[in-house]
Amino acid sequence: MQLLEQKWALVTGSSRGIGQQIAVGLARQKCNVVVHGREIHHVQETLALLKSADVQAHAVAGDLATMEGVQSVIAGVREGPGQIDILYNNAAIQNKWKPIWEITMDEWLHTFQINLFSMIALCTAFAPEMKARGYGRIINLTSGIKDIPQLAPYSVSKAAVDKYTRDLAAELRGTNVLANTLDPGWLRTDMGGPSAHHEVTTVLPGALVPALLDDNGPSGQLYAAQEYRQGSRDGVE
Ligand SMILES: NC(=O)c1ccc[n+]([C@@H]2O[C@H](COP(=O)([O-])OP(=O)(O)OC[C@H]3O[C@@H](n4cnc5c(N)ncnc54)[C@H](OP(=O)(O)O)[C@@H]3O)[C@@H](O)[C@H]2O)c1
Repeated sequence: MQLLEQKWALVTGSSRGIGQQIAVGLARQKCNVVVHGREIHHVQETLALLKSADVQAHAVAGDLATMEGVQSVIAGVREGPGQIDILYNNAAIQNKWKPIWEITMDEWLHTFQINLFSMIALCTAFAPEMKARGYGRIINLTSGIKDIPQLAPYSVSKAAVDKYTRDLAAELRGTNVLANTLDPGWLRTDMGGPSAHHEVTTVLPGALVPALLDDNGPSGQLYAAQEYRQGSRDGVE
C-alpha cells in the first residue's frame, strides 16, 4: 500500500511498548516517523528497528509532564520534518495503584497533565495546519479499563481523552482531518504488566487502521486493535 508514502507521523512515547510497535508498523507502510521519548537516548532501539524500513526517521525528546516538554516536542518536529501528517498520541502513564481516597491531587494533576493536557496541546499545535493542508490523521490512545478505582486518575483521564477526541472530530468535520481513538487491548508492556492478555505485537495491524483511513473517512470513532489481530507475526519479533 502506497497511502502513507511521503507522509510524516509523530508517535509520542515510541521508545518502547505500544508506541514502538506503532512506529514500526507505520514505517512498514512507508511512512516517515518522528519517534519520541522523555530522553533522546530512550529512542535508540526504535531508531534501530526503523533502519530496516526504507523511511526517514527523526528523534525528538520531551517530558510531557511539563509544558516545556511539550514545547520541546513541537520544536523537535519543526527542526526535523517541520510538519506532520499523522499525530499518534500514544504516550501516557498509569498512576500508582492505591485506594482512591489516598490518591493525592498532585497525582491526579500529574496523570492528567501527561495523558490529557499535553495531548490536547499537541493536537492544538498540529491540527490547524493539517486542516489548512486538507489532510490529517489524529489517533489518541484510550483504554478499555473497567471499574478499578485504584487507577481512577488513569481511567478518568482516558474518559476525557475519549470526549476530547469526539469534540475534535466535530470541530474538524469536512476537513479531511480525521480524529479517532484506539483501544490497544490489554498488552504485556511496562504499563500493562506480565499478566496482560496479549503480546504487545498484537496491537498490529489494528493500530494502523485509523492511520490508513481513506480521505473523509470515519472520525470521532473508537478502533479496537484486537479486532484486527493476526498473531504475533505482524509485530516486532
Ligand atoms: N499496555 C496496555 O495494556 C494498555 C491498555 C490500554 C491502553 N494503553 C495505552 O497505550 C499507550 C502506551 O502504553 P504502553 O503500555 O506502551 O506504555 P509503556 O510501555 O509504559 O510506555 C510508555 C511510553 O510513554 C512514554 N512516556 C511515559 N511518560 C512520559 C512522559 N512523562 N513524557 C513523555 N513520554 C512519556 C514512555 O517514554 P520513555 O521511554 O521515555 O519513558 C514510553 O515510550 C498509553 O496511552 C496507554 O494508556 C495501554
